[in-house]
Amino acid sequence: MEDKIAKLREMIAESDNIVFFGGAGVSTESGIPDFRSVDGLYNQKWKYPPETILSHSFFERDPEEYYRFHREKLVIDGVKPNRAHLRLAQLEQEGKLKAVITQNIDGLHQAAGSKNVLELHGSILRAYCSRCRRPYPAEQMNKGTGVPRCSCGGVIRPDIVLYEEALDEDILRRSIAYIRNADILIIGGTSLNVYPAAGLINYYRGNKLVLINLSETPYDSYADLIIHEKIGEVFSRV
Ligand code: APR
Repeated sequence: MEDKIAKLREMIAESDNIVFFGGAGVSTESGIPDFRSVDGLYNQKWKYPPETILSHSFFERDPEEYYRFHREKLVIDGVKPNRAHLRLAQLEQEGKLKAVITQNIDGLHQAAGSKNVLELHGSILRAYCSRCRRPYPAEQMNKGTGVPRCSCGGVIRPDIVLYEEALDEDILRRSIAYIRNADILIIGGTSLNVYPAAGLINYYRGNKLVLINLSETPYDSYADLIIHEKIGEVFSRV
């Protein structure tokens, strides 16, 4: 591991155009379970499969059950950015990292101080009315019981991309541009299972693709440097 860390440290030292692409594995060291690991959200027993609950059609059909899941599983109080979030924010401040592109909805990159964060799947910290689109603070959804409603009568929903929903065109376009022009693309804490997010890395044209992930991914063979270690540990040493 030491020689790989040294290699990554050298690559980072020599570049001023790094882009980071991350997933739920970046936040596990902050106490937020990921989705597909053994103890991940999708392997926990719930009334319906979590992937079903986190879909547009389920939200429309049974908002009551969605909000039971949301308050129990998605809202985790007191979580803090970890060493990976903090080092990425520092690399941006040093002018080395151009963008964080994340599949996460927890807002921890911004909490760590990152400014240019592209949230492919939105954020659980924002909410809006599904009928009139009036914005609401997240507390409106997270506190109390039952289905939160807007003054217009519409259901208030989180500003996240549910299954069956499209990603934001502008965020996709900007993410592709950063990845296409990146000198180094560092991918971390993601199983690269979910499209179109995972497909974005095909736009990378450089020869410094770094993959930092505890388990193997379908893209391991494309990486120029693979580190199968905890990402917080790795970033604390580069
Ligand atoms: N350090 C490095 N890797 C880690 C760590 C860690 N501390 N903890 C977990 N991992 C790895 C796991 O081995 C796993 O391969 O992170 C990966 C997380 O993968 P998933 O749980 O599939 O999460 P993610 O890739 O972000 O899922 C993508 O799926 O359901 C959708 O919208 C949801 O954004 C999510 C998307």
